[in-house]
Amino acid sequence: MVQDIFEKIKNNRGPIGQHAKESHGYFTFPKLEGPIGPHMIFRGKKRLNWSLNNYLGLANHPEVRKADAEAAAEFGFAAPMGARMMSGNSNYHEQLEAELSAFVQKEDTILCNFGYQATLSAIDCLVDRRDVIVYDAESHACILDGVRLHMGKRYVFKHNDMEDCEKQLARATKLADEQGGAILVITEGVFGMRGDQGKIKEIVELKKKFNFRLFVDDAHGIGTLGATGGGAGQEQGCQDGIDVYFGTFAKSFALIGGFISSDEQVVEYLRYNMRSQIFAKALPLPLVVGALKRLELMRNMPELKENLWTITNALQKGLVDAGFNIGETDTCVTPVYMNGSIPESTNLIFDLRENYNIFCSMVVYPVVPKGMIILRLIPTAVHTLEDVEYTIDAFKKIVGKLKAGEYVSDKIASV
Ligand SMILES: Cc1ncc(COP(=O)(O)O)c(C=O)c1O
Repeated sequence: MVQDIFEKIKNNRGPIGQHAKESHGYFTFPKLEGPIGPHMIFRGKKRLNWSLNNYLGLANHPEVRKADAEAAAEFGFAAPMGARMMSGNSNYHEQLEAELSAFVQKEDTILCNFGYQATLSAIDCLVDRRDVIVYDAESHACILDGVRLHMGKRYVFKHNDMEDCEKQLARATKLADEQGGAILVITEGVFGMRGDQGKIKEIVELKKKFNFRLFVDDAHGIGTLGATGGGAGQEQGCQDGIDVYFGTFAKSFALIGGFISSDEQVVEYLRYNMRSQIFAKALPLPLVVGALKRLELMRNMPELKENLWTITNALQKGLVDAGFNIGETDTCVTPVYMNGSIPESTNLIFDLRENYNIFCSMVVYPVVPKGMIILRLIPTAVHTLEDVEYTIDAFKKIVGKLKAGEYVSDKIASV
């Protein structure tokens, strides 16, 4: 019997959507109001906020706000009209591409409208049906969706497991050899949930044994890692070994958009073949001019990254000293692992928000295994050491209550 799509959707709301009725506006789709920073308004009250990837604190930096406002007034958000290839190119777009290339130490760069779309579409553009993709099992959805578009074979390796990566590369090599195809290995600079870096250096080492190109999604690494903020490859001393580098504007840059950097001829190929950019409007000028200002500040104000790491180190050390499990993070992303059910986690978050005025993200099943709760803290350059101290103190109290069973319930907290 043919089903009706709308009926099907009504009866299966999806793993998170099934809780929408109780959680919408609070646990999901919350509204954080006021200028972006460590203290924002949630449901009419000021909360200490650890939930935004505003790593360098640029979102509300006075020079950034000024540059954004002036660019919006000068150009408006319509300009330029059309796709870059047809009518949407500008000197500003090209200047930003050149400056980004220098920042991440690559020959050339292509700007993209969204980070998600950039990764997905670049993967789609780089491989054909004879090629083989080898990718990390915990890759971000934009990588997984890029891989889904691939019409050839793909092999997944266990997260950051170099033995398995080598095994999959051996299988890929055999197949690519038979088919006359090439191999693309894909990983991340920083895995955004757990905060561990991808083992880029080890993967680059494998080039001595296998013939492949390496694509790295460094959404969380750019601006936060490496001596000059060049990202995870720079941090690990192997930026040269990354063949295709992806960065987003959605995190350290506190903007929107993204970019892919690589060898000149690869970027030229992407410019003329990447479907998401050929068939979509160019980034509006205020965003491009705003990105130039942010990049200038990232280059000229190393203290932003230093502050970020002062807060990160204090937060992570404080949590570990207090007995919390923060897993294997070696970046600013700070997950705090706890055990409990989904209803318990909602009661805990409710308590944390309402009684301690702390706002952070919570990650539960199906993103992590059943019974695991991750409270995910994102430190920024504009948090203070007092914010850190207050948070660790509050966390000690809520984990005490969690262990004492005070949050046990058979249903999601009602708000
Ligand atoms: C690892 C990773 N890749 C890609 C993206 C997508 O970037 P954007 O938000 O710019 O679309 C994100 C952001 O959520 C991310 O964390």
